[in-house]
Amino acid sequence: MLKPEVNELLTRTGPGTPMGDLFRQYWIPALLAEELPEPGSPPVRIKLLSERLIAFRNDAGEFGLIDEFCAHRGVSLWFGKVEGDGLRCAYHGWKYGVTGQCIEVPSEPEERGLARKIKLVGYPLVKVGDVLWTHMGDPAQRPPLPEWEFATVPPEQTYTSKRWQECNWLQALEGGIDSSHVSWLHSGGLKSDPLFKGARGNQYNLSDYKPFFEVADAAGGLFIGARRNAEEGHYYWRITPWVMPNFTMVPPRGDHPVHGHFWVPIDDENCWAYSFDYHPVRALTSDEVQAMRDGFGVHNEYVPGTYRPLQNKDNDYLMDREAQRRGETFSGVKGIAAQDFSLQESMGPIVDRSKERLVSTDAGIIQARRRLRKAATALRERGQTPPGVDPEHQKVRSAAVVLPRDQAFIDASRELLTVRPGVRQASV
Ligand code: FES
Ligand SMILES: [Fe+2]
Repeated sequence: MLKPEVNELLTRTGPGTPMGDLFRQYWIPALLAEELPEPGSPPVRIKLLSERLIAFRNDAGEFGLIDEFCAHRGVSLWFGKVEGDGLRCAYHGWKYGVTGQCIEVPSEPEERGLARKIKLVGYPLVKVGDVLWTHMGDPAQRPPLPEWEFATVPPEQTYTSKRWQECNWLQALEGGIDSSHVSWLHSGGLKSDPLFKGARGNQYNLSDYKPFFEVADAAGGLFIGARRNAEEGHYYWRITPWVMPNFTMVPPRGDHPVHGHFWVPIDDENCWAYSFDYHPVRALTSDEVQAMRDGFGVHNEYVPGTYRPLQNKDNDYLMDREAQRRGETFSGVKGIAAQDFSLQESMGPIVDRSKERLVSTDAGIIQARRRLRKAATALRERGQTPPGVDPEHQKVRSAAVVLPRDQAFIDASRELLTVRPGVRQASV
């Protein structure tokens, strides 16, 4: 249970809010690289942390992320046209460069130098892996570029999708931290999803519905261990890393690619879920990539031409009562991703956490909220750089391991939870 003012603090990320300031310390996913595939690609509207922005790529191939609205009389630059080194407003032709600097005011004589005095808000936009990243905070505090493993392995080993999720970022993140729902909500998918099925570990998931949770501190956030019974004298541990503020990884299954998420606030009632799948040591097979494109695993199908899921709240996520009755799906909703976001959206745009009743399986969520609150306060009061900004904190992996009962999960698997280039993920 959270006091309403704490819920408010953790869920609001607009300019000037404590969590908004926290998010502005990090490089966060702004777009998929496929949205601006080539020099001169048409501009894309994007809202991040409650700020309305335009992303574009000039004819030289440079990326820009600037205020959506023209400094002249506030027209959306989405109607604008990429021209040479910048983006030209469709109303009276003012032109902006990739930093947001106005570079031409055609109606005014050049010698007045008006353009030089006008600058829109502009943020960096940098491609690392399949994602375009931005840092929306103080340029003087800009950290080194992100070094997440999924974004730095060779391109043939990784795949990223994104989807619009119609709820606050925190309840989406909390779904990524809480692995106790897997034995219930995703029980059907463990048996049938091509990116999940067939792993030995699934048997432990399906035969022990009462995981015990243990949480350990990490430099960048937490490692959340979920323990289930395995063979005599052993436990099956699924270990989820959470790196502040919005990165989680799902523990692997067999030799399937490993997946995870970023939950990026669009505004306080919507977020982008970036979902990635990668394999640390091998190329993804064409069957795997096809399954990802078809919406299996952590991915989903789309309303054509958009990043909105095909199953969405306007069509009740295509819920199928018959499939639920037959036990094919636990909630009647098809697909692991849609199972998650349908329930998270059903909580309302911002769930009222003063009414919840947390239990022992929510230990990871409780700790994560505590860490977020502490970091937001330390930043505000002492200017302290939060965990997860340092690229070293980003070099984590999830793991699924069987350990003797007397071994502490964190001691036994510390090395396995660290990125080791060229070494396979720890998985059963
Ligand atoms: S509103 Fe953009 S040029 Fe006039
Ligand atoms: Fe889930």
